[in-house]
Amino acid sequence: MASPRDILLVKSGGENAVPEWRDVFAQLCPDLDVRWWDDPEVDPAAVRFVLVWQPQPGRLAGYTSLKVIFSSGAGVDHITDDPQLPRHIPIVRMGSAETLQTMGEYVCLAVLAIQRELKRALNAQPEARWDEFQGSRTAPQTRVGIMGLGNIGQTAARMLRGIGYPLAGWSRKRKSLENMTCFAGIEELDAFVRQTDVVVGLLPETPLTRGLLNASRLALLPRGAGIVNAGRGSLIVLSDLIAALDSGHLSSAVLDVFEDEPLKPEVAVWRHPRIIVTGHIAGFASRRARAEHVARGIAAYRRGDPLPNLFQPERGY
Ligand code: NDP
Ligand code: OXD
Repeated sequence: MASPRDILLVKSGGENAVPEWRDVFAQLCPDLDVRWWDDPEVDPAAVRFVLVWQPQPGRLAGYTSLKVIFSSGAGVDHITDDPQLPRHIPIVRMGSAETLQTMGEYVCLAVLAIQRELKRALNAQPEARWDEFQGSRTAPQTRVGIMGLGNIGQTAARMLRGIGYPLAGWSRKRKSLENMTCFAGIEELDAFVRQTDVVVGLLPETPLTRGLLNASRLALLPRGAGIVNAGRGSLIVLSDLIAALDSGHLSSAVLDVFEDEPLKPEVAVWRHPRIIVTGHIAGFASRRARAEHVARGIAAYRRGDPLPNLFQPERGY
């Protein structure tokens, strides 16, 4: 009798996405049995792999033969938040080239929007007001500081450098990167902030990254500085950011991520004249690109090799 195929449960994209997931996995990993997350016919004890975004708390604990959790995103806070998460199961973070490309594109768009005062032009348009203002600085005159020099931070740095921005970066461990001043650790964060005209948040959410951009740190930024956040919303104390924009200390912000998503209609940032809001759209990757990453991970698991882009619980990302 043929042995049962390994089951991969897929939540990402909902039930309608399952046929496409099946098609791409049929080409990449034909021996996999790809099933919908809520398929009532699946025996929980037979599930070996899951590909998920925001699994319901407690749900993963029910899969007693689970071998690897694949996160549909690069961040894993939407999985590790689960108090009942079986902590011994490895979590693979998404790491597709398309995610890096699209995140880099978003960061360039957002930094350019701040440097070229795009929000001012957007505010004039609904009033049909011809606002013929001149920019105040060029890219080479605008120092960009990237918080988080991982896969995405380093990709964004390469793309920003192509536009001409002078760059600095901040990470947990010190990096040595070409044409970039690298700061490391909490003890160097204030010095990093002081010399930055546009801060770009590309950090994961961990207990150590929460609230780093609070009133006292925002005050260290040079007058007229701007903020981009495409990592996680918890990096910024929103009320402090709004106060710094209202006082004129900061010029503008482009925010893609928020502590409480989707952002509720009553939240002030929607209507703030100096904030551009996007709805967590900075990075995306096709199902094919994500399936390729998962198939590589499953192949590595089966060979007993190290898993790619593995979440490390002791550092929190
Ligand atoms: P990586 O793990 O590759 O990089 C994380 C970076 O953050 C590393 O440079 C790391 O430092 C740094 N870091 C982590 N904790 C600290 C800390 N306490 N102090 C200083 N630096 C720290 O992650 P990715 O680049 O792949 O992704 C980053 C985040 O982007 C994701 O976790 C996710 O939250 C977000 N994201 C958002 C998307 C969107 O659409 N808005 C899409 C994709 C990702 P070190 O190098 O020393 O390890
Ligand atoms: C991610 C995200 O973590 O989209 O990939 O936020």
